Amino acid sequence: MSELFPNIAIVGASGAVGQEAISILESRGHPIDRIDLFGSEQSAGKTVPYLGSSKTISCLADINKHQHDFVILCATGDVARRVRELLLFADTVLIDNSSEFRLDADVPLVIPEVNAHLLNVDTRFVSNPNCSTIMLLAALDPLRNNFGVRSIIVTTYQAVSGAGKAGIDELYSQSQAHLYNEEVSTSVFPCSCAFNVFEHESTLNPETGFNGEETKIIQETRRIWDDPSLSILPTCVRVPVERAHSQSVIVEFDRPVVINEIRHALTQPGLSISNEGHLLTPREVAGSDDVYIGRIRLDPQSEGRRAILWICTDQIRKGAALNAIQIMDKLHIERVLFQNPSSRA
Ligand SMILES: NC(=O)c1ccc[n+]([C@@H]2O[C@H](COP(=O)([O-])OP(=O)(O)OC[C@H]3O[C@@H](n4cnc5c(N)ncnc54)[C@H](OP(=O)(O)O)[C@@H]3O)[C@@H](O)[C@H]2O)c1
Repeated sequence: MSELFPNIAIVGASGAVGQEAISILESRGHPIDRIDLFGSEQSAGKTVPYLGSSKTISCLADINKHQHDFVILCATGDVARRVRELLLFADTVLIDNSSEFRLDADVPLVIPEVNAHLLNVDTRFVSNPNCSTIMLLAALDPLRNNFGVRSIIVTTYQAVSGAGKAGIDELYSQSQAHLYNEEVSTSVFPCSCAFNVFEHESTLNPETGFNGEETKIIQETRRIWDDPSLSILPTCVRVPVERAHSQSVIVEFDRPVVINEIRHALTQPGLSISNEGHLLTPREVAGSDDVYIGRIRLDPQSEGRRAILWICTDQIRKGAALNAIQIMDKLHIERVLFQNPSSRA
């Protein structure tokens, strides 16, 4: 393993998250001979521009012909399961963006700013939380550490790219069809996503009334915070935005707080607080790394115990590709230090 640049494989290189991961590595100058790209048979053989050259996507079946330090999985849960089996005995760390293993007790579910302590030199498989969970907990964790959190009510305004590249294509094709008065066809979403708002398309649980996305936020938040009885009520909504999710969050604390305390607690790397009156939008934050927080208010009826926040985050970046790469960075440092204990000082 190179101390500076590990050998990395990106699985799902043609998709929304895979493309973003490639672009982050490219922006850091990660050498072309230390990155391999994989996809299904559909994209195998296609090329991706990289650092003034190009890189060919290989068929996934070939992944164990190479030796990788890290594999970043940007595909479905089935693919993650298959790669996990293929690389069972390799000394490779898998970081998975799918939801397949997020609730497995032996798989750490990690947001580096929140629970990086779960990562160590023996870690071989890590799950990235759901994009909505990542942005929510990145913002709320410092508040929990300072004031304690009793309950959360969150309403999401989720971009169509949360459903992958096909979601973006559908927004553009439907927008055009609406504007030209043509027939609007749907395949990714249950109804037109252009000029429309609807509850998240994931499967509804008839017993709880929560859809799949809402259930993920509940289960993952409770797991990451190790608080199985936390009161958390999400309502997830799709909006006609290409990229970056927004959330309106009502959070109840264990003790009364004032606005300045909240602002102070949120002054952390990876978080950006908007000035009062600034119009914080998904369009503005698309393409950037931070979790942006604005409109910080207190419920005047709550004696300082309830705050309302507006959060915007590029969910393809911090909600997926960047979070995975931050996990990789932590583990890479752990592994380098383990192999060269003298560099620890
Ligand atoms: N989009 C988001 O905002 C977001 C956020 C958090 C987590 N995630 C998760 O990240 C993962 C990727 O999402 P995405 O949005 O990037 O989806 P996407 O745009 O639909 O891309 C899916 C990728 O998976 C690849 N793939 C499919 N079947 C494959 C196979 N049999 N072998 C190898 N590769 C295969 C596709 O490659 P081909 O083109 O070759 O078929 C494509 O590159 C999903 O698990 C998703 O739930 C997404």
